[in-house]
Formats: sequence, C-alpha cells, structure tokens
Amino acid sequence: MTFLVLANFKSHKLEGEVLNWLKTVSPALKNNSSLKLLVAPALLHLPAAHAYLSTHPTNVELVAQDASPFPPGAYTGAINAQQLKEYGVSYSLVGHSERRKYFHENHQDVANKVKELLSNGITPAICLSRDDIVPQFAALSDDLQNDCLYCFEPPADIGGTTTAPLDLIRDTVDMIKKYTSAKVLYGGSVTPENVASLLELPIDGVLVATASLEASSLTAIISTCSHAR
Ligand code: PGA
Repeated sequence: MTFLVLANFKSHKLEGEVLNWLKTVSPALKNNSSLKLLVAPALLHLPAAHAYLSTHPTNVELVAQDASPFPPGAYTGAINAQQLKEYGVSYSLVGHSERRKYFHENHQDVANKVKELLSNGITPAICLSRDDIVPQFAALSDDLQNDCLYCFEPPADIGGTTTAPLDLIRDTVDMIKKYTSAKVLYGGSVTPENVASLLELPIDGVLVATASLEASSLTAIISTCSHAR
C-alpha cells in the first residue's frame, strides 16, 4: 500500500520558495512507488505549483489547505472545489485544528466541505482531534466516509518536536478505523528524528508541517519512510 507524506506549509513561504522547494524535493520521489508526496502550499501558490508539476511529472500531488463549503456563487472570498480542481488539486485538508480554532469551523461546516470536494473529484483529508471523532463522523454522510482520508492530529502535540504517545496514536487510529476503511494519517510534531518510531504503528501516512518547511528535513523524512516500507 502506498504510504503518504503530506507536507502542510500553513501560512508560510512566498511563491519562489514553494517552487524551489518542489525542485529540491521532487528528485527524492523519482522511481519511488511505495510512497506518495502530497503538498499543501498556500491556496495562492497552487497555480504556480501546478504549472511546475505539469512540466516535471513525479509522484507529487497538490493539496489545498481549505475549500469553500459552498458551490460557485455569491460567497465573497471563498475558493470553491471546482476552482481548486482547475489547478490540479487532488486533495484538500478540511477541519484542521487551526481552522476549527481560529476560524470557528464546526463539524457541519467540515461535512459541507467534504460534500463539495467529493462532488468535484477532490479527496478530503479530514483532520481530527480525538474529541472530534464521534461528532465529526455523525455529521458526515455514511456513503461519503470511505471516500476521504483522515488525519489524527492532537492539537496539543502540533508545532513541537515530540509526537503524541505511540499508544494514544494507536488507540485513536483504531477508533477512526471502526468508522471507515479509508487511510488514516498521523500528524503533530513529526520530525526526521522521530518518524521511524511512528512507522511501527498501523498508519497510512504522516502529516508534517514545521519539519516540512526545510526541503532537507522533509527529504530526510521521505527517505526514512521509503526505507521502512
Ligand atoms: P507540525 O504541524 O508538524 O508543525 O506539528 C502539523 C499540522 O498542524 O498539520
């Protein structure tokens, strides 16, 4: 099964920095069929990243960091799923803990985004704290649950250098897998130093933000993951 490494740049980097990063990291993915890199630059940088990847094919796919819960229409400031699709977006994060905390997104908003994304052929990557699991699955239509990716991200373990305890990750991934047969990733303080320990867990990938910003550090994570799989 393909292991996923999802790099989330959050609100970091200018366009040239995104392109340099892609240039540096892409060679690590060549001839690597056991691993796929998913990259989530700022929405504004998706067209340039798409143009770069169209002329430098490799197993890197583009991820939006967010999507509108609405279809095209009078929703000032919103970027809808159809617009994301035009720029080669294959996945979109939804319900990241920072969106839930700072932008007050609730479980129903996340479910609405999921519906919009799937109807435009984009796979939602739903971020969940342990407490989100029950209410988030309750808000999602049963028939859509297997068509998403899930990322267990404990908010208290984001942005540091130590992951959540491995037992807690294992237990929470099991909880999520009771609802769905979809892939489940872990995110929160994943670094080149600790990623090997995570590979013993029944996870299908890792979501990396801080340690993805430096190309060399993400390349080290990719290398560890591909050797272990
Ligand atoms: P981190 O963030 O890798 O900096 O802990 C993960 C995330 O918030 O997606």
